[in-house]
Amino acid sequence: MIEKTTELKKQFEDKIAKIKATTDLEQLKVEFLGKKGLITSLMQGLKDVANDKKREAGLAINSVKQFIENSIEHKKEDLAKLEWDLKINSTPSYDESLCCSVEHGTFHPITLIQREVEKVFETMGFAIENYSEIVDDYHCFEALNIPKHHPARDMQDTYYLSTGQLLKTHTSAAQNHIMRKYGAPCRAIFPGRCFRNEAIDACHENTFFQMEGIMIDENISIANLIYFMKTMLSEVFGQEVEVRLRPGFFPFVEPGFELDIKCLICGGKGCPSCKDSGWLELCPCGMIHPKVLEYGGIDTEKYTGFAFGLGLTRLAMMKYGIKDIRTLNSGNLKAFSQFTNQ
Ligand code: PHE
Repeated sequence: MIEKTTELKKQFEDKIAKIKATTDLEQLKVEFLGKKGLITSLMQGLKDVANDKKREAGLAINSVKQFIENSIEHKKEDLAKLEWDLKINSTPSYDESLCCSVEHGTFHPITLIQREVEKVFETMGFAIENYSEIVDDYHCFEALNIPKHHPARDMQDTYYLSTGQLLKTHTSAAQNHIMRKYGAPCRAIFPGRCFRNEAIDACHENTFFQMEGIMIDENISIANLIYFMKTMLSEVFGQEVEVRLRPGFFPFVEPGFELDIKCLICGGKGCPSCKDSGWLELCPCGMIHPKVLEYGGIDTEKYTGFAFGLGLTRLAMMKYGIKDIRTLNSGNLKAFSQFTNQ
């Protein structure tokens, strides 16, 4: 009987080694452990074993039975893993049936214009920086020479959060951060979404995009500012655009300017987009106020700099002839799909 069990064990080991599928393993299990299986018939043979050998034979059969059960369990796990790997590797991770029926998305006009402006400034050696949309009072106002109760705060109807923080009203909120990060000399642009509690009409939105830029170095003057703005605008529009500078007041620049471009929608005749003036306020700018440089840790004896806050939303409207600013936040995919290849 002992030999029979040893032989059965060997037979089982040979068979299980060859098994490659769970269904074959099930059959093997039935063959050895089933009601009419080989282990059962061994058990039945016990009655013919001499009494003094019965105990030993019984233990031997049980131990082989245990061995077979364990081996089948382990093999089952191995096979399941193998079959799963095979399935994963042979199934495409996309839905083939969707082929050809998917409409292609397009970039938002603001994204398109942002990338274009970024490219121009990148070639002129400017770094591109990201800054968060939630900022604190210090960065949005104090560090920009706009102390509490300064009337200039009224120009920017601010959304305050219950945390005491606020949604940035202008990309200038990153100026201090950039100055501290790079020190001087530095040239960087930082695009971003801004928020102001504005009454909404064809040319005002409460959510809009700006692209701020600063350049700080020795001997930076208004001439540098005008040069960079003109170069960038003619690159973006692919033509010389007419610009004009008017004095503008911003506490963080001195002197400050408003850079306007002639309205490309009406050619200067006057339309709702330019409030019938023929000109579009596009880019407030100026020489960075020495106090702001100081807050940024810049040596004002040695360095000067300019800053500009380009209205990306306005720029996109001009470039793509979008008459109503509200189109840009409308999520109208049909409208946006027209701009991709312009
Ligand atoms: N941050 C100003 C605004 O949004 C614009 C600005 C930027 C003006 C840089 C001057 C220099 O109104």
